[in-house]
Amino acid sequence: MSQRQKKTKSRFVCSACGAQLPKWSGQCPDCGAWNAVQESILSTNEPTQRLRGYAGTAPDGIGGLVQALATVSPEPQPRHPSGIDELDRVLGGGLVPGSIILIGGDPGIGKSTLLLQAGATLGERESVLYVTGEESPQQVSLRAHRLNLPGANIQLLAETCVEHVLASADVQRPSVLIIDSIQTLFTNALSSAPGTVSQVRESAAQLVRYAKQTATTVFLVGHVTKEGALAGPRVLEHMVDTVLYFEGEPGSTHRLVRAVKNRFGAVNELGVFVMTDKGLRQVRNPSAIFLSRHDQPVSGSVVLVTREGTRPMLVEVQALVDQSPLANPRRVAVGLEQNRLSMLLAVLHRHGGVSMFDQDVFVNVVGGVRVSETAADLALLLAVLSSWRDRPLPLDLAVFGEVGLSGEIRPVPNGPDRLREAAKHGLHQAIVPKANVPKGGVNGLVIQPVLSLQEAINCL
Ligand code: TYD
Ligand code: MG
Repeated sequence: MSQRQKKTKSRFVCSACGAQLPKWSGQCPDCGAWNAVQESILSTNEPTQRLRGYAGTAPDGIGGLVQALATVSPEPQPRHPSGIDELDRVLGGGLVPGSIILIGGDPGIGKSTLLLQAGATLGERESVLYVTGEESPQQVSLRAHRLNLPGANIQLLAETCVEHVLASADVQRPSVLIIDSIQTLFTNALSSAPGTVSQVRESAAQLVRYAKQTATTVFLVGHVTKEGALAGPRVLEHMVDTVLYFEGEPGSTHRLVRAVKNRFGAVNELGVFVMTDKGLRQVRNPSAIFLSRHDQPVSGSVVLVTREGTRPMLVEVQALVDQSPLANPRRVAVGLEQNRLSMLLAVLHRHGGVSMFDQDVFVNVVGGVRVSETAADLALLLAVLSSWRDRPLPLDLAVFGEVGLSGEIRPVPNGPDRLREAAKHGLHQAIVPKANVPKGGVNGLVIQPVLSLQEAINCL
């Protein structure tokens, strides 16, 4: 280790202009940017990976072979199921050896719980090393007892120095390495405090190299900061193979795991869990869990059939339109895109003849779900209209469709799938884009195909 410390030097670099400084400074003397100077490792002639004990296990890319792409045969990625189906789903079918997976989320959302549960099932077949930088081994053991996993075959290591972690991993040779959390790790090569961007980035870089060289699957836990940005982890997103986000509403027990980047599978795949007193329980058929079943029709509420990854899901879109006391009425979207809401209200005015200049408009997706697809457009507008007119829509109505700027209703992917899902959950009517209606219709569903916003409004 001392040899290593001698050979690596750090320098300070302005992240705004790239200027190199001999020491830290609050303002960059070159470009004048504040708080942009960060410590980073100066590369020496000797690549850092050569200094590490695990060198020699695989070619490290330096002096690598130049070969024609056509002559390289694609190796099918072997997968190791984690034993938790909802997690495997977002990972694209299981763990890929040598891949590095970042799990981001608010503190307390359940990241440690999920990884401990996954570690326990993985431990039945593989060796798992769980590095805890935040909690003591006793705390982890307490959680394991609470999760009813006291006999889990997991090796524990309470350590925050990345060099020590890698040295232990070199001895243990785990096939799965869990780092909880990346923000607590630090490298001896840098003098800045753990949790700073440069420490997080350099620690992660060492773990990435280790994962690739030893074909170990590495999980990194990363906390999201108050501002919502993954202060550390955001800078990691490009370094890792897979980025999962753990989401959930405060006060709700539902937890969603979403893939936002995946080199080995589809993105926007969703895993759904419920946090119980015995840990996370999978929701295998989540298509209607976010639907609040009203007894009476209420105004401003519409059932949207959205698609998360590969499955259709029924969610309730709610709107509240109310006279605004403000000169600039509010446009608030929770779980939907704010800009899209403003745009759709403009379309509603121009092509539906309904003006909301003096109204506050709030829209919300029930249950803390976030819908980013444009298929929500039509449902959003119908919910807004229903609230504005104070006229409830039928309880058994399903809606989806994209609304274009000229007031046309455009088809969305997998229309028939969505319609069948709606029928499966006992809905009897649907207002959807014309091109999404299958030829023979859908059993049990009265479908109103629409081509324009005006037609959709007339349906009500
Ligand atoms: P945790 O996994 O520690 O969150 P993170 O690692 O993302 O910070 O989860 C902590 C929360 O989960 C805590 O508020 C308690 C709750 N919890 C349960 O409700 N049931 C359980 O079985 C466990 C282990 C935790
Ligand atoms: Mg934790």
